[in-house]
Amino acid sequence: KREAQLNSILATVPDAMVVIDAEGTMLSFSHAALRMFGYEEAEVLGRNVSMLMPSPDREAHDDYIARYLQTGEARIIGSTRRVMGRRKDGTLVPHELAIGEATGGGERVFTGFMRDLTDQETTAARLKELQ
Ligand code: HEM
Repeated sequence: KREAQLNSILATVPDAMVVIDAEGTMLSFSHAALRMFGYEEAEVLGRNVSMLMPSPDREAHDDYIARYLQTGEARIIGSTRRVMGRRKDGTLVPHELAIGEATGGGERVFTGFMRDLTDQETTAARLKELQ
């Protein structure tokens, strides 16, 4: 039942949302996130969240999580940050990332919400050109 509830949330939530475990392995992926990154669910579940970002974050992301788990010092959790994502086709997608933390059944999970900033930034650039 909880699984069905979670799946219906992931199907309908308007934002791109990704749930990972403490190793960075992706456990859930919302439909909006599949659209934003151009993947099918089977291509992302069980894989590392770092596949969604370009270098140098791609190579460093495991260390970012490890650092947080060791020190407890949050850099993005509790705030938001503009980061760059990388779609399946290799194109980049600027977005605002918010990260939440939860513990479920003794396991630590992180929930990432990603708001696509492409339209906003394209419009801002056009307005600037007009000035
Ligand atoms: C930390 C980048 C997606 C979970 C970080 C940091 C960066 C980063 C730069 C370290 C911040 C610092 O040390 O100053 C990215 C990029 C993403 C992405 C470019 C684009 C796809 C995600 C997602 C999740 C996530 C989707 C969770 C579902 C975490 C966690 C930390 C972290 C748990 C450590 C906690 C913290 O620093 O507050 N990420 N991230 N990241 N990221 Fe990501």
